[in-house]
Amino acid sequence: MNAAAPLAGRRFVVSAGPTFEDIDPVRYIGNRSSGKMGFAIAAAAARAGADVALVAGPVHLATPEGVRRVDVRSAVQLRDAVLAALPADAYIGAAAVADWTPRAAAPHKLKKRDGEDTLTLELVRTPDVLADVASHATLRPRLVAGFAAETEQLDANARAKLERKRVDLVAANLVGTPGTGFESDDNALVVFARDGSTLTLGPAPKRALAEALVQLIAERLA
Ligand code: CTP
Repeated sequence: MNAAAPLAGRRFVVSAGPTFEDIDPVRYIGNRSSGKMGFAIAAAAARAGADVALVAGPVHLATPEGVRRVDVRSAVQLRDAVLAALPADAYIGAAAVADWTPRAAAPHKLKKRDGEDTLTLELVRTPDVLADVASHATLRPRLVAGFAAETEQLDANARAKLERKRVDLVAANLVGTPGTGFESDDNALVVFARDGSTLTLGPAPKRALAEALVQLIAERLA
């Protein structure tokens, strides 16, 4: 393995950020993902010599050096862009993909009506991009890694996600740990592997965590 560029010749696809699911031309359903973790992973993989495609939801972040970026808005767009970026040696699903989307975005702004105190939105499931990539008959990368944001029972939930989505690694963070998480520059992760091993990383800056995660993936691809 080339020590300076352990990922030379490898292709990585990384997803990052939230998705926005449109309700009407002025409203959407979103989430608090900043995209920082996914962007840090894309940057770390590029520094390690990989050819990196970064599929980014709506975020305010600069494109890391040497990374090819595709901007998307919705979960369906993210799925299409990720599949279009394959084949790859690794897919790292760091995006906080919305699980639900309005059945149809209204073509005009929804107006309030006198006497109507509630609004009912019908939501349908979005594609599970991580599971779709991990189960793909022809395009499954050799290594597929996902993230899990858990508020309780970190181990059990992360291991269940590993099995259910057929991925190789799940990096779990316990939502609500002080000083870590969505908008923060720091994070703490427990990485669960399919072989049963676990690795605790951090609390540390997301750049350092990204480097450790990319190193772990490089070792598994070697
Ligand atoms: N993910 C995805 N497509 C979705 C939802 C999630 O690709 N529609 C990916 C995320 O990128 C992340 C992982 O799945 O890598 C974890 O997503 P999460 O929402 O935490 O898990 P769920 O499987 O949705 O389970 P739950 O909501 O019950 O925690």
